[in-house]
Amino acid sequence: MSQKKAILKLDDKEFVLDTLVGTEGERAVDVRTLRDTTGYITFDDGYANTGACESKVTFIDGEKGILRYRGYSIEELAEKSTFIETAYLLIYGELPTAEQLKSFKARILDNAQIHEGLRIAISGFPSTAHPMAVLSATLNTLGCYYPELGTNERAHDLAQLDEAATVLISKVRTLAALAHRAKEGQPSVFPKPGNDYCSNFLHLMFAQPHADHVVHPEVARALDLILLLHADHEQNCSTSTVRMVASGGANLFASVSAGVCALWGPLHGGANQAVIEMLEEIHKSGDDGSRFIEAAKQKGSGVRLMGFGHRVYKNYDPRAKIIKAQCDKVLKLLNVNDPLLAIAMRLEEAALNDPYFKQRNLYPNVDFYSGIILKAIGIPTEMFTVIFAIGRMPGWISHWKEIAESPKQKIHRPRQIYMGNTERAYVPMEKR
Ligand code: SDX
Repeated sequence: MSQKKAILKLDDKEFVLDTLVGTEGERAVDVRTLRDTTGYITFDDGYANTGACESKVTFIDGEKGILRYRGYSIEELAEKSTFIETAYLLIYGELPTAEQLKSFKARILDNAQIHEGLRIAISGFPSTAHPMAVLSATLNTLGCYYPELGTNERAHDLAQLDEAATVLISKVRTLAALAHRAKEGQPSVFPKPGNDYCSNFLHLMFAQPHADHVVHPEVARALDLILLLHADHEQNCSTSTVRMVASGGANLFASVSAGVCALWGPLHGGANQAVIEMLEEIHKSGDDGSRFIEAAKQKGSGVRLMGFGHRVYKNYDPRAKIIKAQCDKVLKLLNVNDPLLAIAMRLEEAALNDPYFKQRNLYPNVDFYSGIILKAIGIPTEMFTVIFAIGRMPGWISHWKEIAESPKQKIHRPRQIYMGNTERAYVPMEKR
């Protein structure tokens, strides 16, 4: 709570509201007593000006392009950490000791297998099923195989969090890879003990029954970086969904399954797939991008420059900067000459110099370049948002844990302004 007060003048009365200030200086007017004292609620369509909670997991300064996980900058973590170490940091709040990391890694790497019943269930999805639909369904179903980890009795489920977290972080890879292999009509393969997290995922995705999939260490490192950069992003649409579901007391499996559904939309995590489809459409049309950019500026055209713009970043998304730098490195390493990268860079250059985008502070976001790397390492386009979900899993777990640990946590139940019909009498059929 800050010493500063907010004075609200309404209907010739003055109301004094408390204010809050965060550890990074973010300020808020505390409206928790507003309706009881004034009879008014606030209105904020899309929650652009509304703080839903206090959180200690991630800090973003959208104006300055700052992103920190538990106080550590994304740039330092990208350079010095790994996805699994960062997952530990997000969930437990501190960087692990060597012993803690060893045990966390071991529990994750040994946990990659899934129950045969779930493997059979995945093979029952039609080959046309989008892997995000399969993932959200199978994450919730995974909870059926671990009923003791997700009882919807909060204190119990919190006590089981360590186990549930490693089950989810490990098996989300297996479920994702099996969704892909079932779609391709390929038999599933088993994880390789001793493989690192990303090498095992790529093995599960691409190994043939008669031959292991040899993963280039640099490719595994590029995927590890992509997952690390996606690991959390404070109150984004899918994480807020996880928190919404968790606030009702639902278990971790149900909460992250809902998070996958929210992430799927093209305005959110689905944008990485939409970016590649956009670049391929531009490439096929022979457009150098200028026609597309003009269309994206036209109101009502239904065209958006996918991978551009962000609700919070009004500066370059720091993750996009890091991924863009990786693009050149990975494509050179794999000797891939992808014309889509040149188109993406041309689009960026044109948009960043165009008044329409500049006036609206629209910059490349995390999704603008990530698909180019994923494509280069052989990930199918329909799996791009699944990769995002694998990366975001530790963040979702951290926020579920934060809700579960908060003694004063209330169920999330926003109000509304009703704009429908006022009361009216029932009309019998003969008079309609
Ligand atoms: C992610 O929240 C997170 O943290 C998300 C995320 C995470 O890590 O969890 O960072 C991941 O979801 C990144 C965003 C991925 N989505 C896209 O790349 C889709 C394209 N971007 C947009 O649809 C849009 O920018 C959003 C959805 C990302 C943000 O939308 P807002 O904040 O609701 O802004 P808006 O739609 O009200 O746009 C403001 C103006 C509008 O023009 P005007 O009405 O002022 O004339 O900017 C325009 C919009 O038309 N605009 C765009 C645009 N994005 C916004 N115009 C063209 N192309 C775009 N991409």
